[in-house]
Amino acid sequence: MAQLEGKTVVITGASSGIGAAISAQCLDAGAQVIGLCRRSDTLDSRVRGISCDLRDQASIDDAMAQIESASARVDVWVNNAGVAKLSKITDGALEDWDTMWSVNVRALAYCSQAALKFLSPESGQIINVSSMSGHRVPPTGGFYAPTKFAVRGITDALRSELRAAGSRIRVASVSPGFVDTPLLDEYFQGREEQLAEAKASMQMLGAEDVANCVLHIINSPMHVDIGDIQLRSSDQKA
Ligand SMILES: NC(=O)c1ccc[n+]([C@@H]2O[C@H](COP(=O)([O-])OP(=O)(O)OC[C@H]3O[C@@H](n4cnc5c(N)ncnc54)[C@H](OP(=O)(O)O)[C@@H]3O)[C@@H](O)[C@H]2O)c1
Repeated sequence: MAQLEGKTVVITGASSGIGAAISAQCLDAGAQVIGLCRRSDTLDSRVRGISCDLRDQASIDDAMAQIESASARVDVWVNNAGVAKLSKITDGALEDWDTMWSVNVRALAYCSQAALKFLSPESGQIINVSSMSGHRVPPTGGFYAPTKFAVRGITDALRSELRAAGSRIRVASVSPGFVDTPLLDEYFQGREEQLAEAKASMQMLGAEDVANCVLHIINSPMHVDIGDIQLRSSDQKA
């Protein structure tokens, strides 16, 4: 029997990059996958797509209602959706800060809260896709890095709250360095030569490398509570 046969996994941002790779690996392992994103029409036909704009509270609530009618129980909830814009503290645009805060932080925390009603208190799992930028601030980290520091804080706060309440739901994060996905094109917009240099200087992680870590967390036995997996290209300097 495939490892995730009979399990339901919800993945935010399943339409691209890391989310699409996690989705593919979960499907291959036999899971039923529910994907939340705006471009739900582009998802793998095996994924139950739910159109959702994570900047919009009503849209998230509508997605939660659809999950409730599609599946009474969710085994794993992956908060993967994220936005990265180069938007510095010194001169970044508030509009960019608002977008990153609403998707990377507020929606992640709210989805985690909402997911609790679908997850078994004995065996449920929440996995947050954070970043190495949540562990140290690179010179161009701007407002993006603080949003990932917040993901780290939310991950730890939620785990503590759940344990204090007697729940065994496991909460983990994965923190990748550079991963070759469309997100980098947006982050390096206007600095395309820097992205080309970065790609020439290292063999970047692929989305499947991050997905491997997520599947490792999902497949870990119940008594193993992984906090965070940091991974980066062996060539990445910091
Ligand atoms: N690539 C990297 O170097 C890297 C490094 C460290 C951490 N990460 C993290 O990895 C995660 C996935 O990023 P990726 O590299 O796979 O990027 P990506 O290829 O650009 O994918 C981002 C995903 O987020 C979804 N998303 C963005 N805004 C959304 C919104 N308002 N509502 C709903 N969904 C939204 C997108 O779906 P729709 O557009 O269809 O809505 C898409 O599926 C992010 O949290 C990112 O911060 C990436």
